[in-house]
Amino acid sequence: MTIQLIPIPPVGRTSDSGHGWLYEAVATIDRAISAELGSADAARSAQASVVERANETTETKHWVLAVDDADPRVGLAWAFVGLPVLGDLEKAYAGVSVLPAQRRQGLGTVLLEWCETVVRDAGRRLVLVWSQYAGVEDHAPYVTGPTGAVAPASAGVAFALHRGFHLKQAERRSCLELPMDPGVFARLDADAQAHSGGYRFHTWDGVIPDEWLEPVGRLRQAFAQQAPAGGVEWDDDPWDRARVERMLDDYRQAGRCYLVTAAECVATGELVGLTEYTWPDDPGCPVAWQWMTLVLPDHRGHRLGLAMKLANTAGLTRRAPQLTLVLTENAHENAPMLAINVAMGFRPAGGSAMLAKELG
Ligand SMILES: CC(C)(COP(=O)(O)OP(=O)(O)OC[C@H]1O[C@@H](n2cnc3c(N)ncnc32)[C@H](O)[C@@H]1OP(=O)(O)O)[C@@H](O)C(=O)NCCC(=O)NCCS
Repeated sequence: MTIQLIPIPPVGRTSDSGHGWLYEAVATIDRAISAELGSADAARSAQASVVERANETTETKHWVLAVDDADPRVGLAWAFVGLPVLGDLEKAYAGVSVLPAQRRQGLGTVLLEWCETVVRDAGRRLVLVWSQYAGVEDHAPYVTGPTGAVAPASAGVAFALHRGFHLKQAERRSCLELPMDPGVFARLDADAQAHSGGYRFHTWDGVIPDEWLEPVGRLRQAFAQQAPAGGVEWDDDPWDRARVERMLDDYRQAGRCYLVTAAECVATGELVGLTEYTWPDDPGCPVAWQWMTLVLPDHRGHRLGLAMKLANTAGLTRRAPQLTLVLTENAHENAPMLAINVAMGFRPAGGSAMLAKELG
């Protein structure tokens, strides 16, 4: 096998005659890896990758597809490097994905070396990777990081550990079957309502009213500071109104739906929390992702996290009754969030590890 790395440039759409096929190849690989994790439908579509690649407002991106010279139109693996530009200027994000049938032949190593070269050439010092593993692989012995443990038996974690990375954060993957058990919903909803007087809830479907764009940006910025960060320190990640608008536009361009429920403090009119779902705009796809959830510190203890998540889940079931599964990932040290999820019926479905390497 003679491996060639083909750069994946930004394009407007998957039908791009020169490079669209590269995105189809990336989607095929992503789908195979998601299938290993239990749900091929959780993977990003080719169109969603096009949109993701094209948005370089917060990081400069480098993507490559690995092919064999003997069959150069078939993608075997792909890799990316992201170089943050708004802060975290010493860091880089990277990822390597190899088709299951093409593993243990050195492809992952070649691509990780390419990532590290890009990172070094950009003058960055710390490279971060994330690796997910399925529930069946989640068994002892574990490797322990600053705030949790992961199973080193998983291919991705072993691969990174053997190549000089260290565990920085461990996350639990969980899934919730939809629709939620009505008895559980009613009991939790009564509890949430009994504690959340003084707050008003808004649910927005794909479009956030003009007056709330900036407050939503402030919450997203706060999330980056307040979410448990494991063993990595992050700079401030600025979110303004334009970035929120771009996020919503990207969802539309990617063919993804977005539902958000936010909590407003009635006394002050301040937006103090939100929770988000996103899923493909495809009636044949049964999987949604739970995205970020945040309640500002001064407003914790009023069951707002639970109340928002219940309202958003009820909205999701009405809006997209074809959905039967929600996936999410939470840091092991995020006990309050995990407790809400467990109460709602989320069950463990594997894990995810953030690993880091200092480049010499
Ligand atoms: C991790 C991954 C990229 C490795 O790709 P690959 O082409 O098999 O990598 P290589 O052939 O260069 O190296 C294989 C290494 O992976 C590890 N590995 C692979 N499969 C493994 C398994 N089933 N159990 C334990 N270790 C495994 C080993 O460290 C192995 O190195 P070794 O044989 O020298 O011990 C691939 O399994 C993958 O795409 N996984 C899903 C995505 C992911 O988790 N990426 C890692 C984060 S960047």
